[in-house]
Amino acid sequence: MSLAHGHPYLAIPGPSVIPDRVQRAMHRGSPNIYDGPLHDMVAGLWPDLKALAGTQGHVAGYIANGHGVWEAANANLFSRGDRALVLACGQFGLSWANHARGMGIDVAMLDFGRHAAPDLNRVEAALRADKGYAIKAVLATHVDTSSTVKTDVAALRGVLDAVGHPALLAIDCIASLGCDEYHMDAWGADVTVAASQKGLMTPPGMGFVWFNDRAKAVQADLRTPYWNWNPRCEATEFWQLWCGTAPTHHLYGLREALDMIAEEGLPAIWARHRRLAAAVWAAVEGWGAGNAAIALNVADVAARGCSVTSARFGAPDATRLRAWVEREAGVTLGIGLGMGTEADPQADGWLRIAHMGHVNAHMTLGALAVIEAGLAALGIAHGPGLAAATQVVAG
Ligand SMILES: Cc1ncc(COP(=O)(O)O)c(C=O)c1O
Repeated sequence: MSLAHGHPYLAIPGPSVIPDRVQRAMHRGSPNIYDGPLHDMVAGLWPDLKALAGTQGHVAGYIANGHGVWEAANANLFSRGDRALVLACGQFGLSWANHARGMGIDVAMLDFGRHAAPDLNRVEAALRADKGYAIKAVLATHVDTSSTVKTDVAALRGVLDAVGHPALLAIDCIASLGCDEYHMDAWGADVTVAASQKGLMTPPGMGFVWFNDRAKAVQADLRTPYWNWNPRCEATEFWQLWCGTAPTHHLYGLREALDMIAEEGLPAIWARHRRLAAAVWAAVEGWGAGNAAIALNVADVAARGCSVTSARFGAPDATRLRAWVEREAGVTLGIGLGMGTEADPQADGWLRIAHMGHVNAHMTLGALAVIEAGLAALGIAHGPGLAAATQVVAG
């Protein structure tokens, strides 16, 4: 007998839960792509996407995943041999850097480890040392989904301005857009990348790059026909928007998702994610009070992403717990990613609990409750966590 039968819950940091309304909106035959309702619907997406990122600038859509929009940003920002300063607080920062290197970009890496936000003094020192302004852009993740470290984007802009360095600031919001508070223009980001399968509550397959006029003015010799953002944001014909056939069904899903975001309102969505994240943190801290092996990855509350939480349970308990929770209770938790050490390269001691997008209190408390049941069932020592989480939800 298993208690997993019923509606499974995917508490992983993407693909996130796709709302029924979004699935229904996508469930249709192929539309006419030459003119008519599809064109009208798509025309209405761009202002909503700009509002979501908090920009008056430009946005280009791509049939791509997150790795794809990294490449789109790199291709439009750099020429071969240009320097990028990459700030890494986890696996995804490191991967964006690898992608840049693979494109012939000269990467200067500042690796801040896996447990804390960037040290702004080191960023400042690196920028001050770049007397000739070889650094064309600074690349950083808003929330690195592997470590769940959140970077203060406005503070990064503050450092660039304090140094008077002309480099552009490009932010990966793939795990945070539509979950964590973000204001592209107000915080001084020049470029933002995101993808459809997380806070946008739509299946994987669409990526977006938002950019301002400063970024648009860059002359980049890595700008290949497919990744070139100019024909997409200056399109005079529908096919140019996607450089070919549009991702039709994803677009109908996105329209519904953006309607849901507008109905709830971004401030409420950010507050919901903050509260649910705080409930998850309270549970992990409660469990950890009875077992020093259990702990949140990020100690500083201000540096924690609100859409996913990386926590240590120790090896092999984290892997045993993930397996038990999925097999016996129908909840899939995120694998530990990039948290490895010499001793534990596979990060067996870690797992991630997502609270991203179309998620509510019952889904989050339900996931925490079955984790606590799993700890008990597997004889893993722990303090009371669920009670602390319910207190947070109770407000
Ligand atoms: C912060 C961040 N950047 C980039 C990516 C890569 O995106 P994708 O897996 O869609 O290629 C992810 C995916 O989880 C992510 O969370």
